[in-house]
Order: sequence, then C-alpha cells, then structure tokens
Amino acid sequence: MLPALIEWSSSYRDDLRFAREDLLGSAAHVTMLERTAILPKDDARAIRRELLAMHGDAAAGRLALADGEEDIHMAVEAELSRRLGAVAGRLHTARSRNDQVALDLRLHVRAEAASTLAELAQLVALLAERAEHERSVLLPAYTHRQRAQPVTAAYVLCAWGAALCRAAEVVEFAIRSADALPLGSGACSGSSLPIDRAITAELLGFARITHNALDTVGERDFAIDWSYAGCRVLLALSRLATDVIDYSTSEFSFVKLDGAIAAGSSMMPQKKNPDVFELVRGKSAIAIGDVTALLSLVKGLPGGYNRDLQEDRGPLLATAPRVRGAIRAMLAAIPRLTFDAAHALAAVSDGSTQATDLAEALVKRGIPFREAYKAVGALVSAALDAGVALVALDPKVATGIHAAFDRATMAVLDPRTAAAAKESFGGTGARAVTVQIERLHAEATRLREVSEKIPTLDALAQRLAAI
Ligand code: ARG
Repeated sequence: MLPALIEWSSSYRDDLRFAREDLLGSAAHVTMLERTAILPKDDARAIRRELLAMHGDAAAGRLALADGEEDIHMAVEAELSRRLGAVAGRLHTARSRNDQVALDLRLHVRAEAASTLAELAQLVALLAERAEHERSVLLPAYTHRQRAQPVTAAYVLCAWGAALCRAAEVVEFAIRSADALPLGSGACSGSSLPIDRAITAELLGFARITHNALDTVGERDFAIDWSYAGCRVLLALSRLATDVIDYSTSEFSFVKLDGAIAAGSSMMPQKKNPDVFELVRGKSAIAIGDVTALLSLVKGLPGGYNRDLQEDRGPLLATAPRVRGAIRAMLAAIPRLTFDAAHALAAVSDGSTQATDLAEALVKRGIPFREAYKAVGALVSAALDAGVALVALDPKVATGIHAAFDRATMAVLDPRTAAAAKESFGGTGARAVTVQIERLHAEATRLREVSEKIPTLDALAQRLAAI
C-alpha cells in the first residue's frame, strides 16, 4: 500500500489504548496453541514470556512500538520479531486480526464496564448517605416545572439514586454482552487446526465462547451495548445535573455550591457557576451522538469483517473516559452541595403544594375524592380572591366552603406533615424513604460484587505469568 494510504487508514494511534489487551490476548492464544500441541512448547513459552514482558512495559507506560504499522496487531508482531526473531512468526497461527481486534475490544469493554460499575456503586452509596442526612429538608417536587407537592431532600437524592441503579443494570448487561471469547474465529470461518477455544476462554476469564465465526468477526453489538450503557449513565447524571443547576439559581435557592466545585466568571465577579454540572449535560449529548455513530456503522453491513468496523474506535474508546470522568466529577461535587433548608421550606410553606393532601384528608373522612377535589379547588379560589396564601385563609371561610375543613384537617397544610404522611411504597414518607435508602445501599453492594467478579487486566496478566 502507498505509505500515504497506510498512514491514512491506520488505526495504530487509537489502538494503543488497548495495547495491554492485545498483548494479554496473544499470551493466552499462544498458551492455547501450546496446550493443544499446535506449537512446540519451547517456542510457545518464549513467545508468551516476551509478550508478558511487553505487557509489563505497556502497563508501566514504556512500551516502545514502531510507528508506521497498519494497527496495533501488526506493530506488536513486528516488535516481537525484533525481540525474538523468526519464532515470533508462529504467534499468528490460527488467528486473524479480525478475531484479534474483536477480542481486544471485548476485553477493553469488559474491564472498563466493570470499573464503571464499581464507581457507580460508590456514587449510589454516596447518594444514599447524603439522603440519610437530608431527611428533614423539605422542598417542592415539580411536575410541568410547576411546584407540585412537598418532598424531602432525602427523597430527591433517592430519586437520583434510583435512576443511576437502572443505568447500572444496563452497564451490567454490557459486561455480559462483551463477556464472550471471539478468538478462534479466524478470518471468518474458524480454523482447520485442532484449536481449543475453551482453553483460551478459561485463560482470559470469559464466561462464554461466541457461536459463529462469521457473525463474530463482523459484529460490534457489545460495543453498541457499552456505549448505550455509558449513555444511560450520562442521561441519568444529566437530569441530576439540571436539578442541581436549577436548585442553585437565585430563583430557586435550594442548594448552595461550595466554591471548590463552582466556576467563576472572567467578567462578573459575583458569579459562582455550576460548570461541572453543565459539562455533565454537555457530555451526555456527545454520548448520544456516539451511540448513533455505532448504530449507523453496522447498519446494513454485509456479513463478516468489513474495514468500516475500524471506525468503531472513536466512539467506543471515548465511552469509558467520558462516563467514568463524569461519575468521578459527581463523586467530588455531590458531597459539597449544601441544601438551603430555610429557602427550600419557604417554597412549600404557603400551602398551595399541599392542596392534594387536603383533598386526601377529606377522603380519609369518607368524602368521595371528586367532591373533595372540588371543595379544595373552591378553597384555593377563595384564598386567591382574598389575596392570601392557602395557609392564611380565614378558618370561617374554610368551614363555610366545606364543614370538613376544620382545624385538624387544615393541619395537613404543614409541608412536614404532608411529606411525612406519604408512606406508600416509593413515597416520600420517612419509613418509605428508609426503605429506599436501604435498597440503594444494598444495590451499591451488589454492583460492587458484580464488578469484583470480572478479572482486571492485572489479574489476567498474573494468571498468565503463573503458567
Ligand atoms: N485495524 C483493523 C481494525 O481495527 C484490524 C482488523 C483488520 N483486518 C483486516 N483484515 N484488515 O478493525
């Protein structure tokens, strides 16, 4: 190929990000070739030893590979030849770069998704801890961006946690999706040599082996799943971010940003801007673009490997740093948010957000909900006409509208009473919130355990070095 075209078509620079995966995959492959007696033991051992030495260099950030190769696979083989001579030529037995790149990418996704899960577990636990301490702060929940009903800040924190737990389930799915060995597929139809894919799978800790070589080399579903999972995490964080951004405005004033997590303005000295949260939103937009890019890349591709697939590199490799960076930013920022309890309480203190509670108080006295709803509506109108807040309405006017609006009923206009009364499962009552906090802690523990079961690259290297 013309040098200019090699350079233009090379994925080498991007591939460097999974140099370690490539080396470990090769070390496992050559071990399988040794155990199946496809390669002489001495040759296989020499190759494995050198690959692991190169892996050690890569892990320490000092692996020097010659530039100018088409991809990492060629660059590694060239370096191996430089170090070992002709014996290096045995490594690529029963293998193609098509199954090799699929392996490297799967190892990358599995390890990054597992680390993401561990960091998500931390974030979920952090939200649960913060919730425990914010049970007495009241603020309005919104529907249609209008104040709707009083809830506790603990409950809002649990809502953010619930969304993250759902996103974490998608990350788990991405791990499962990537957790199948593609190696042994060869270019597109397997191998005539007596390979044993189960050996390679076992060495690399894969849960499964892919079922069809033609499909295996031509698909990137695991990459789509991973990028979608990352996108789901960022979507959850983007909504949390908007809540925080709103709450921190002087219009809401429910939350204060510590100086250490707020950005200044180069012109307006008074500003404390929520840039960190805005960037989370911005990054979620790019994540959506990357999922779309991967979906478009595979749509209508003919069966088997096509070089188009190399363009998976940008969106696929951007996912982990983007998602993990955002999670870490939230881990740093969320402990430094403080709720402004007085301001938040003021937003639910005029009684209007407790109108439903008033209606439910009448229902508790046997009044049909529709009748109660109309009576409360009349009460709200009367307060509006009188130019007073619902809580300040003359008790005589209230009992005039409906006899049931006595002092005991009207007590539910206290936002604390209103929030505390909602003990239905998933509600904002104190016991209901305790259940939610406990669930978040349990889920954080479970996510951590799932993550720990996935072998890290270091663990794989140790396993291969011990052979
Ligand atoms: N650089 C290629 C990629 O990243 C590796 C596989 C190339 N296979 C081939 N037959 N040209 O997808």
